[in-house]
Amino acid sequence: MDLYRLARPALFRLGAERAHELTMRGLALASRSRLALRALGSFARGADDPALQTRAFGLTFPNPVGLAAGLDKDGVAVPALAALGFGSVEVGTVTALPQPGNPRPRLFRLVEDEALINRMGFNNGGAAALARHVLRAKEAHGDRLPPVGVNVGRSRAVPDEEAPEDYARALRAVWDAADYLVLNVSSPNTPGLRDLQAAGPLRSVLRAARAVASQRGEKPVLVKLAPDLPDEGLAAAARAAEEEGAAGIVATNTTTSRPPLRSPHAPEQGGLSGRPLAPRALAALRTLASATRLPLVSVGGVWDASDVAERLAAGATLVQVYTAFVYEGPALPGRLCRGLAARRGA
Ligand code: FNR
Repeated sequence: MDLYRLARPALFRLGAERAHELTMRGLALASRSRLALRALGSFARGADDPALQTRAFGLTFPNPVGLAAGLDKDGVAVPALAALGFGSVEVGTVTALPQPGNPRPRLFRLVEDEALINRMGFNNGGAAALARHVLRAKEAHGDRLPPVGVNVGRSRAVPDEEAPEDYARALRAVWDAADYLVLNVSSPNTPGLRDLQAAGPLRSVLRAARAVASQRGEKPVLVKLAPDLPDEGLAAAARAAEEEGAAGIVATNTTTSRPPLRSPHAPEQGGLSGRPLAPRALAALRTLASATRLPLVSVGGVWDASDVAERLAAGATLVQVYTAFVYEGPALPGRLCRGLAARRGA
């Protein structure tokens, strides 16, 4: 019996952001208790199957099923998320300084569509605080943690011309805490941000990241792209990223487009994630796979083991989930891993 099926109606009676806050508070608390972490580990059966181990950009992942950015924005629950069986945990987006994000409400559940719309706007406690949290987790749990990615974005108050230095400031603050870094140039909720995906600005941001790497030691730096770029835009961004030394591409962020939806929240502004994003995320992956040899992390509407297998077959090295985790609960990463292992054995 999946207990989450029983708990979900109570959680879903709360506003979406309230439920998220409670969940994160629980996971942050659990992260500080060995007993709680052991209990969460019961969900993760099969996630450590050696057959699922995956190498990408110089790192070893216990399995290819990671948690996408935006759930643990401040990196406060890495041990608990790792205990659930995720093969990587991407924390953030953080910005150089703390910022409050957009006014509430800013997160909506589209239950009929198994989707979410968010316009959070990079609410976060700042890069330095995130680094402290993640370093503390690493001190306590060492190499029992899977690779931790830190996703950084441009501060709202900073114009795009100053974006490279703003990214560099955030990167310097989180550099030592991260196993890999992700430059988020694709959130729809910071005005102007997505213009940084054009080849010229993207090159400038990547050069700023390279300058940080040359001072602080090499680490893989990935770029996260939007599903709303046309195919030529995706290909051009991937080529620019490859030429500027990026280690990989995360595709995709949420979409501002609105495929047919049934939920009354469909007209809300913001980025759509979950099931309705899957076809576009898969198409973007295919476009990228034919445009670049960089490793690809596929995210967007991944729901079950067949989705994971499909993304890997289409050229992804790793996958990530967010919205499915909200709908399916803590057993999701273990279930995806067992399903994937069963397919490979079959
Ligand atoms: C996100 N996502 C996101 N991405 C990112 O790079 N930085 C962020 O801060 C956030 N924040 C965020 C908040 C919320 C509430 C959601 C639902 C999503 C995007 C996320 O990482 C992922 O790219 C998309 O949600 C698509 O994957 P799923 O949700 O369909 O599995």
